[in-house]
Amino acid sequence: MNIAIEVKNVGKTFILHNQQSAKIPVLGGINLSVNYGECVVLDGHSGSGKSTLLRSLFANYQPDEGEIIIHHQGMQTELISASPRAIIELRRTTIGWVSQFLRVIPRVSAIDIVMQPLLEIGADMQVARDKAANLLTQLNVPERLWSLAPSTFSGGEQQRVNIARGFIVDYPILLLDEPTASLDSKNAEVVINLINQAKARGAAIIGIFHDTQTRDQVATRLFSMQKSAH
Ligand SMILES: Nc1ncnc2c1ncn2[C@@H]1O[C@H](COP(=O)(O)OP(=O)(O)OP(=O)(O)O)[C@@H](O)[C@H]1O
Ligand SMILES: [Mg+2]
Repeated sequence: MNIAIEVKNVGKTFILHNQQSAKIPVLGGINLSVNYGECVVLDGHSGSGKSTLLRSLFANYQPDEGEIIIHHQGMQTELISASPRAIIELRRTTIGWVSQFLRVIPRVSAIDIVMQPLLEIGADMQVARDKAANLLTQLNVPERLWSLAPSTFSGGEQQRVNIARGFIVDYPILLLDEPTASLDSKNAEVVINLINQAKARGAAIIGIFHDTQTRDQVATRLFSMQKSAH
């Protein structure tokens, strides 16, 4: 099998400097390998560190122990020690991220928000626009909203814009933090299909899904946080 991500002995303790330097050990001794073509779902109770691990895989959080090795196109990058420049490049070309919430940029239209990651890897404007329109249509975002900034959209509409943006580039690695959390079942179904299509084209996917029904439809394997957390 073709390895995508190796997490070796990763640990993370938060220190709250404004609260008597209280220490919160969240991750300890995490070991996980994910291959291309797999969808691994992080499993564990609320507060077990699922989002912390996922954010660490996007270099949003920096673990204080261990290694995270990203394998792509014959190259290996260790994420915890990677330079900001290397991280930006990995996020542009290799690792996609869909969180539960859209970071709304004032005055930028929904379709421009969706197109942006594809334009950043050099796609033609019309190709990017067509792909964005296709995803927004699949996700049932009404066309009258496409040219509007999503700040006034409903939570579910914002999330669908966010998902379209996350899936517009065929990222080799996709990180999904509860992408279906505020969607109705019809739209959740669309997202499940997008995830399974990404898996079929060989993407390595790591996700968090509270809903067991959704989880069972996408997961090739579960990874239990309990085993390894302190
Ligand atoms: N930036 C941070 N600063 C301090 N503590 C944090 C930070 N982020 C997370 N934590 C702590 O780490 C622990 C794990 O949080 P995390 O968000 O990873 O859990 P989770 O498994 O994703 O939970 P949920 O299922 O509720 O989303 C929590 O106790 C949380 O308070
Ligand atoms: Mg979480």
